Formats: sequence, C-alpha cells, structure tokens
Amino acid sequence: MIMMDSGEPLPTNHYSEVLIASNRGPVTLGRDAQGGYTFQRGSGGLVTALTGLARTTRVTWVACALSPEDAAWGQGKVCFEDENCNLYTRFINPDPQAYDAYYNQISNPLLWFLQHSMWDVPRAPVIDRATWDAWEMGYKVVNRQFAGEIADQVRTMSKPVLVMLQDYHLYLTPRYLKKYLRRRDAILSLFVHIPMPGPDYWGILPPGMRQEILDGLCAVDLLGFQTREDGLNFIRTCENYLPKALVRYRRGRVRYRSHDTYVRDFPISIDVDALKALADAPETLSYQQEVAEHMNQRKLILRVDRLEPSKNLLRGFQAYEALLETHPEHCDQVMFLALLTPSRLGVDEYQTYLDEIMAAVGRINARYGDSEWEPVRLLVGENYARAVAALTMYNVLLVNSIADGMNLVAKEGAVVNKMDGVLVLSERTGARQQLEPGALVIAPCDVYATAEAMHQALVMAPEERRERAALLRRLVEAEDINFWLESQLDAIAEIARMRKA
Ligand code: G6P
Repeated sequence: MIMMDSGEPLPTNHYSEVLIASNRGPVTLGRDAQGGYTFQRGSGGLVTALTGLARTTRVTWVACALSPEDAAWGQGKVCFEDENCNLYTRFINPDPQAYDAYYNQISNPLLWFLQHSMWDVPRAPVIDRATWDAWEMGYKVVNRQFAGEIADQVRTMSKPVLVMLQDYHLYLTPRYLKKYLRRRDAILSLFVHIPMPGPDYWGILPPGMRQEILDGLCAVDLLGFQTREDGLNFIRTCENYLPKALVRYRRGRVRYRSHDTYVRDFPISIDVDALKALADAPETLSYQQEVAEHMNQRKLILRVDRLEPSKNLLRGFQAYEALLETHPEHCDQVMFLALLTPSRLGVDEYQTYLDEIMAAVGRINARYGDSEWEPVRLLVGENYARAVAALTMYNVLLVNSIADGMNLVAKEGAVVNKMDGVLVLSERTGARQQLEPGALVIAPCDVYATAEAMHQALVMAPEERRERAALLRRLVEAEDINFWLESQLDAIAEIARMRKA
C-alpha cells in the first residue's frame, strides 16, 4: 500500500490517468526575477485531495486561465516545491466577454444565488435579454470549450478513463462531452460543492435553462453532493421537471435517456495533518501574537469567511449588537474579529455587500466603542496563516451562513482551536450533518437566537466546553479529506462493476 507523507494510506484508484476539470485551477502562476514561471498551490481541500491523487496517478487538470500568466503558460507539468506529483494542468482561455458572462452573470449571480436561496423573489432575479445572451454566449460557450478540451485529452488517454468534474460552473459540460466522445468509454463524475435546493427554487429558473442543466447533470455516471438532503433534492427536481426520467429514491438513481446517474453524498472535509502542521508553524505563532494584541485579554468571537452574501455577515453583526444590548456585561469583555477575503467583486451584489458591512461595523463601533475598546475589528484581505492563527484562539466561532454546501471553517476551527472554543453553527450548512452534536445550532435568520447562542457560548461551564470541543475534533478527524476522495473512488469502482455485470 502506498502511503502519504503523513503515514495515511493513499486512496485506491483503478485508473492510470484521471482528468479533473473546474473553473479555478489548482495552481496560481507567477513570474520570478528571471522571467521564469513560479507555481503556488491553490488553497483549499480540493487541491490537497486531488494533488494527493497525483502521487500515484497521472492527473490532468483542465481549468480556465484566470491571469495573463495562466494564459501565457497554457499547459504543462505543475511543479510544486518539495513534491513529487504527477500533475498536469491545461488552461482553456475563453474570450473575455464570454468568460465574464459565464462567471459574473450566470455562474455567480444566477446559479450561486439560486442554490443558496438568496433571491429576493419579488425583485430578483430579473431574467432579461442580457441574461439570455449571457446564457447562450457565455455559460454555454465556456461549457462547450471545457467539453472540447476534455474530449481532446480523453482521446489521448489510456482506457479506462475517469473524468471528475467540479461544481456549478460546469453543469452543461457532461452532455456536450458525451456528444464529443461519441461511443468512447469514460466514467464521468460531477461533484456539486454547493447546496442543492428542491424543485420549488429550481421552478423560478426558466424551463429552458432548467431543462438543460438537469439534462447535463443526468449525463454523468456519479453525481456527488455534500449531504443526503442535497441528493434527495436533486432527485425530486428531476422527478418534477424531467417527465421522462425514472427516479429511484432508495437506490439513489435517476434513469434518463437510457442512462443511469447514481446520486450519492460525500461530505467534503479538510487535510487534518497539513492544517495541524500549519497551526504550529512559526509564521502562525507570530500572527497569534498579533491577534492577542487586538484582544488585549478579552474573549474572542471570530468569523473567517469569503466576503460573501451567503455567509450572512450582516446578520452576524446584528446578532453581536443584540448580544451587547441584551447582555451588557459582555461590553469591553469581548471582541468580534471578522477576517474576510474579498470575493467576486465583479458581481454588483458583492460590491454593495462590502459597503453594507463597512457601514454595520462603523455603526457598532460608534455606538458601543470608546478609546479603550473597539467592539468589532474587521480585516479584509487574503491571509490564510493569520486566519489559522485566529482559529487557534477563539472562544466562540460564528458560522451563521444563510446556506452553505459544507463550510470548512467550522471543521478547521474544530481541529486547531486550543481554547475549547464553542462553535455557533447555522442549521443550513452541510457541516451541520456531522457537527451538530458538538455545536450550538442556530437558524441563520434568527438574529435573536444567534445572540443568545453567543451568550450561552461565552458563559458556558469549562467542562461542557471541553467535552463539546473534543467531540467536534473527533468528528472531523474521523472523516478527513482523504475519506472524501476515497469514498468517491469506491463509488466509481462500484458503478464500473455494475456496468460490466
Ligand atoms: C466555492 C465554490 C468553488 C469556488 C470557491 C471560490 O467554494 O464551490 O467552486 O471556487 O467558492 O469562489 P471563486 O469564485 O473565487 O472561485
């Protein structure tokens, strides 16, 4: 058995080559002083898990070029420092207008908002001529480009071929790919990283778009979701809108156009060992000192998020305000640190959201703060080491997302926190399925209950905090990122066996 550096066995894989495709690739390219290329590993568990696979298998990763360096480099073997991995990236380079329509008009405002239940339906979405143009000349065009590139690669690969597509940017790719590949054999999987709502929500999308999305998804062999509920919602949606589909809930199967799609849930997780190592690294220790200075002996309520409306940042600040109002004994005894990474600022809603957040923080600090105490400290920027440092130190971690596929911050906090900190967790996160027993679970729109949960967390007896923290840690460590990948490879092997039988 081949082992990872950490001593963990590597996932078993029956394919000599695997092809992965996602909008964002596994690497950020830059230039060094001599004009040569530098490779920086993309953050996040997905890259960790799939580059782990590249130690035993040749992995080709198709993604969009997101910078001039990506576009100029085009394709080749990715060289991460100190790593012996067999990872090849191929960037596709869509026309900028098509990419803008695919990413900034369809994938993020439309599909992301739909799947996170974020539409204010009396006003949004407004699907007008421009949206349809973005669909036809952006989303479809880029999905076709992905399918074309993947098909070219598959033709050069030795059989059997496994293609693992990632996320909502690529819903139409599987159907195009089937067409391009004709009879050539390949197993297709697609993992949806974000929540899957049921038929009511999909009903708001025009039938033309909805049918094409469902048709695309029904072209894969294995469709993975974060939770069981997400999978069931997909099957219900097919039952509602694809009259010719034959659905089997107990088998987790949709039969459509003489093809079986198996629907399964694989809760994504984190690379526990790598994260622990980072938490103990010297860089992290120096950020811990910085956080301690901000805290100045006070208790820490922390949140770490992308600057993202679905994370429910505004209601988080309102809940904190309600906490200070209802339980004034916490004033000057606590601080709220929000570490936010800017995100998708090309989408109007994200830009407006940032302005609203600044206003909310200004209001709380003006109302409650004084020269000695700043109730909220907001730091906007991308600094993973600082985030990990803060995660080791919180007394309360607030994760109050409106909806969230998984929420890995909740899992990261559970593993690295050293204060027996309490997790206040939205019931609408995928993480809730696993972490509920150790967390204080809240409804994300209930600002009052969120404030009360923060209070409960701040005054909780040490023994209960210790027990909850230990339980959370055990739950996360039991199913880390390798487990996520291995379970998918096992399911794929099972499908291949069923096909042969
Ligand atoms: C979520 C999505 C990913 C996406 C990430 C960052 O986790 O599921 O597909 O890559 O957000 O968003 P961005 O738009 O910056 O790639």
